[in-house]
Amino acid sequence: MTTKEQTLAILLDRPEEYISGEVLADMEGVSRNSIWKAVKSLRAEGYNIEAVTNRGYRLLGDHEPVSEEGIRRYLKTKLIGQTIEARSVMASTNARAKELAGQGAPEGTIVVARGQTNGKGRAERKFHSPADSGVYVSFILRPKAGSDRAVRLTMLSAVATARAIERVSNVRAGIKWVNDIFIDGKKAAGILCETEQRADSAFVSYAIVGIGINVSKQIFPPELQSIATSIGNASGNDISKNRLIAELCGAMESLLAEDDPIQEYRERSIVPGKCVKVITEDGSYSATAVAINDDGELIVDTGFGTRTLRAGEVSIIGE
Ligand code: BTN
Repeated sequence: MTTKEQTLAILLDRPEEYISGEVLADMEGVSRNSIWKAVKSLRAEGYNIEAVTNRGYRLLGDHEPVSEEGIRRYLKTKLIGQTIEARSVMASTNARAKELAGQGAPEGTIVVARGQTNGKGRAERKFHSPADSGVYVSFILRPKAGSDRAVRLTMLSAVATARAIERVSNVRAGIKWVNDIFIDGKKAAGILCETEQRADSAFVSYAIVGIGINVSKQIFPPELQSIATSIGNASGNDISKNRLIAELCGAMESLLAEDDPIQEYRERSIVPGKCVKVITEDGSYSATAVAINDDGELIVDTGFGTRTLRAGEVSIIGE
């Protein structure tokens, strides 16, 4: 663990206590200056750390801690979530889930953290993951399918996330192709699906579905304020993160047993009919989103004809 991760883990374990820089430095075997740097960088990531002279540091915020015990209280599944690894802080639950999957962790294992210091988003972006503000969970799945079926898994996970959000709150959760969950026109959750397949195998060895949901009422950093929301901000209610994770496990389990998520995915899609900016590796262009086909591809009309997008990203620019 880095000094930053260790410092955060200690502060999370003692939410109401002040801990001096000296004690932290002793516990971690580093200098007080390194502790100060770690605190500064945690603050830059959105952690609300109070510093009081002669007392020390204290982490502020809403602290219903995500925990194995807390999740099990609500869990009703047979497979998904039966094995849980929960920690205060991880660099990335997806990275840890990959390690565990490589070591043979059973299908349905979930990895959860109260906060991530290096949450991974799509296209090498970072996922804002401050402690106790959201749900950061990765599912280890072993589908009998090739990596070309990963799109279906992403869609299934988007539907599961939307269902789970609606089970714990009064908000309506829509899906922005491919896998962002939107509430009231702003992003509330994102999904990163990663697969590992050996060259000599027809099936993936494992798939990791990483889901990050903004849950608590919170003030987002300035660069996210116009594009991000949380279930708490949108509903005005306090939401149990442990219950939300258990509902996610339930929704994943039902959907994995169902035929095809495409119909519900379409019903929840907020993109068709909208003017969008299509962002590709080679640049971007404007188009009208027409529909999502049976393979989960987005069909857009550029004005000069239609294009079928298998993967990629769109942002909504108007009605
Ligand atoms: C995106 O919106 O670009 C995808 C975000 C996915 C974030 C989740 S949080 C849990 C899991 N662990 C990670 O490092 N990323 C995913």
